[in-house]
Amino acid sequence: MGLEKFIIEGGHRLKGEVSASGSKNSALPIIAATILAEGACSLGNVPRLRDVDVLAKIMQTLGVSVERDPLGRLNTKVINEDASTAPYELVSMMRASFCVIGPLLAKRGYAKVSLPGGCAFGDRPVDLHLKGLRALGAEIQIEHGYVIARAKKLRGANIYLGGNMGSSVLGTGNVMMAAALADGQTIIEHAACEPEVVDLANFLIAMGASIEGAGSHRIRIRGVRKLEGCSYDVIPDRIEAATLLMAAAMTKGEVIVKNIDPTHLEAVFDKFKEAEIGFNRNCKVVAVGQEGRPKEVEIATLPYPGFPTDLQAQMMSLMSIGQGASVFIDSIYPDRLNHVAELKRMGAKVLRVNNTCVIIGQNRLQAAPVMASDLRAGAALVIAALAAEGETHVRRIYHIDRGYENLEGKLRSLGAVIKRVPDDAPEAPPAV
Ligand code: EPU
Repeated sequence: MGLEKFIIEGGHRLKGEVSASGSKNSALPIIAATILAEGACSLGNVPRLRDVDVLAKIMQTLGVSVERDPLGRLNTKVINEDASTAPYELVSMMRASFCVIGPLLAKRGYAKVSLPGGCAFGDRPVDLHLKGLRALGAEIQIEHGYVIARAKKLRGANIYLGGNMGSSVLGTGNVMMAAALADGQTIIEHAACEPEVVDLANFLIAMGASIEGAGSHRIRIRGVRKLEGCSYDVIPDRIEAATLLMAAAMTKGEVIVKNIDPTHLEAVFDKFKEAEIGFNRNCKVVAVGQEGRPKEVEIATLPYPGFPTDLQAQMMSLMSIGQGASVFIDSIYPDRLNHVAELKRMGAKVLRVNNTCVIIGQNRLQAAPVMASDLRAGAALVIAALAAEGETHVRRIYHIDRGYENLEGKLRSLGAVIKRVPDDAPEAPPAV
């Protein structure tokens, strides 16, 4: 399929109700965890995304069948355990696929998984994943760009998993999955506390694992002999939900987002309050009703329960039409600021020094041709375009398709004027 782009006519207030899909960042490790199961697994609320399709291909390469049934559930079953190599061609398309290494090692005693390499916003190492697996007794070598991990039987251990940038979400997931079948008890100190880690733990527990403390910095796992298949529903996507709420605020709209767990977004609501963005929440629903321009905010991204790095770009778009000067610091990914140059092309006033940006809120943005450089940067450009004067063309939307299920359909149902069209313009090499 050729490249596509969005054409977005700005200036339409979003109004209506929309539902968040299942969480991408929960679904991916949970799908990987089905490698551990003796029987079939049935997963509900798995979003239809490019990243899910890529992982499904990797799983098939690893001998696991993955199929959507007519009700939309994703069914998995291990067919053969002989093929335990996740190739570069697929892993390099999506870093999250590195989370197959923990379950492969625990279940099959061997895993060969390509090192994922860097991504659009930085280096993104996997040293913490490897440190954790080594502590469980795995022998690990790196050969020709692949991590080769072996262990006859993993042994429980006490593992400190904090790194220079804080905790690691998928690192915690990998070690938790591996420890679930290890001999004895594992304690992960400085574990990541994200709701997606809790969701993975709950899935493992539904398969028969013994795990306590997920959601805190200390997780205790008592290894069990085997894990069974099970049926499980993935939590709602807090990042998608908040992106839709920010889109609503951006257009001074009135939008209700359903199928959402507001307790996963406390840091975001705290900033909404500071910015005087009108919102109402109850147990599974959040409504935004925005009138004027939001007030300025100061945001430093932090591991959960701090403000998520995955919402930094979208919130920056919103503050580009705020009333004062806002400050953004990405402490988790200091280079995750590719959207800044594109937002500037739409008239945003941003001063960037290292990982810190000062945004001077403008009255309005202007449409311009812009390019998505990664998933969340792409979402930020889409919501900026919704409020810009004129018709914005957002290119390279394959990044957006990685992590937002039917974004344009959802926005259109709220009154946005957005269409997906083939992008015939030639892909120019990067300007030097
Ligand atoms: N880090 C290390 N060593 C490691 C692993 C991570 O130094 O071995 C560093 C990273 O470089 C980063 C920090 O630790 O500075 C946190 O990275 P983390 O490992 O938590 O990220 P991840 O697990 O690879 C997940 C999400 C990301 C999200 C981050 C942070 C998935 C599939 N991905 O990645 O989501 O930004 O946690 O919350 O769960 C996205 O959805 O757009 C996305 C990038």
